[in-house]
Amino acid sequence: MKHFSYLLLAAGLAACTTAPPAGSPAVSATATAPASPSLAAPVPAATPVVTQKAMVVSAHPEATRIGVEVLQRGGNAYDAAVAVQFALAVALPVAGNIGGGGFALYRGADGQTGALDFRETAPAAATRDMYLDAAGNVVPNLSTRGHRAAGVPGTVAGMWALHRRLGKLPWKEVVEPAVQLAARGLALTAKEAAGLNGQQKDFAQFNPTSAYLRNTPWQAGETIKYPELARTLGRIRDQGAAGFYAGETADLLVAEMKRGGGIITKADLAAYQPRWRTPLQGRYRGYAVLTFPPPSSGGVALLQLLQMLEPYNLRPAGWHAPQAVHWLTEAERRVYADRATYLGDPDFGRVPVAQLLDTAYNRRRMTTLQPRRATPSAQVAAGTGLPGYESDQTTHYNIVDAQGNAVSCTTTLNGAYGSKVVVAGAGFLLNNEMDDFSSKAGTPNLYGLVGGAANAIAPGKRMLSSMTPAILTKNNKLALVIGTPGGSTIITSVLQGIINVVDYGQNAQQAVAAPRLHHQWLPDQLDVEAGALLPAAQDTLRARGYQLNARSPWGRLEIIRVLPDGLLEGGADPRGDDNAAGY
Ligand code: DON
Repeated sequence: MKHFSYLLLAAGLAACTTAPPAGSPAVSATATAPASPSLAAPVPAATPVVTQKAMVVSAHPEATRIGVEVLQRGGNAYDAAVAVQFALAVALPVAGNIGGGGFALYRGADGQTGALDFRETAPAAATRDMYLDAAGNVVPNLSTRGHRAAGVPGTVAGMWALHRRLGKLPWKEVVEPAVQLAARGLALTAKEAAGLNGQQKDFAQFNPTSAYLRNTPWQAGETIKYPELARTLGRIRDQGAAGFYAGETADLLVAEMKRGGGIITKADLAAYQPRWRTPLQGRYRGYAVLTFPPPSSGGVALLQLLQMLEPYNLRPAGWHAPQAVHWLTEAERRVYADRATYLGDPDFGRVPVAQLLDTAYNRRRMTTLQPRRATPSAQVAAGTGLPGYESDQTTHYNIVDAQGNAVSCTTTLNGAYGSKVVVAGAGFLLNNEMDDFSSKAGTPNLYGLVGGAANAIAPGKRMLSSMTPAILTKNNKLALVIGTPGGSTIITSVLQGIINVVDYGQNAQQAVAAPRLHHQWLPDQLDVEAGALLPAAQDTLRARGYQLNARSPWGRLEIIRVLPDGLLEGGADPRGDDNAAGY
């Protein structure tokens, strides 16, 4: 039912586009519309971690500890990123990975920047309709669970490429801590034990045995060891990327595919290449915003949102007051409509990045906003008239080293524990990233996102992502490093993190902890975390035509903020086991 309505909407979009003619007046009149600050929500107090020189914020205390140790041993932020990534592959099975992929964004102390895309790719045997039945309908679970859901993993090749270009310590030294962690084992946190217990049925369905699978429930504080994963990490330590994409690890992965009917081959593994891309650059209230280009949709969407919102005076309107929520939500609705239509892997089709980041285009999109009324999503389509255009799991870490190099990296298996398939004998989970493709035009994926031709499956293609690592500078100085998991909510969580700091003056911990809101065009609802809106503000928004959807907490937002005196202020999302530390 739900799928159908999305499909019809997608099909009928061109007819009901609300894009105004070019040259419509700018939004400044609306931007000064009277605010309702009395309905602003209170921002809970929260104390950030503050360090003098260097900091790591990650989703697991063991990974943060290992990253800080690498920095203290003289490693730079890139060495620490590799160490943290491999440590998360052990300590955070729900999302940390070597069987997935991700995006690393960096800014060196010298101002050099780069974006490393180690996103998974569709195997060579993948086809556009591989998740459809004979009647052309999406087969439930095929793109999300089991062997066929996995894309060719990119993480190990990504870490190898990052280290080769920018690392300082020997490779072996940065991988070794994860090898030891896997062999020695570590205590499960309460959240991790609950997470594993919730997945036992799926693990049993796809794996005869695995370190995660057990008859009795896991308890918080219990130690879990990963001997097979330790041996795989040992091969990566000794052989670099070849320790994963060739030899024993590749043999085990392909044997696992054969056992479970998957399609990744040795040739797919041998062919995998990460890509260095040029980061996107935007501006917001005096800050330069550096973020990730396609195949992330996140960077484009974030910069569009910031362009749309800049004319609006958010601070006097009040934090999460109805008028501010109205502006945010209407911008989000329009941007996610663009995402569904225009964004995909730039190596497989033209993605109109420059046009979507045209300030006049984005300001024009906001001229259809009604001052006091929600615009139904059914009346919003992707923008038209782009010149020249035809046509629960991920994890994020931020690192700043003593020299001022900064890394913002989001990495993922996609859903919690990915495809739930653990490569037998190699001990690592495979992603279910294939679900990030649009299996069928207009049919929502795991995150309710719809897409079309630009994000259709093709061999070797990268599936569109929402991951939005970002780095902000002010006057050419590092100011903010930010990112989060959360599927489709990543973009709006990063947006809110930035706004919380830049517009509302919140500290890093407040900015990550503050309850959040989310709208993604379809479904046409505003997701509201407990405490995000005062009851009276909810009434006002309902009266304006918004459908509010109470939703349990989402995302694990991480921030490092550089204070004016150079101290580092860390915000680690209290929704998880995340933590910030440094020296
Ligand atoms: O790349 C993407 O957009 C998704 N695979 C991210 C998934 C995610 O963040 C899940 N986390 N809660």
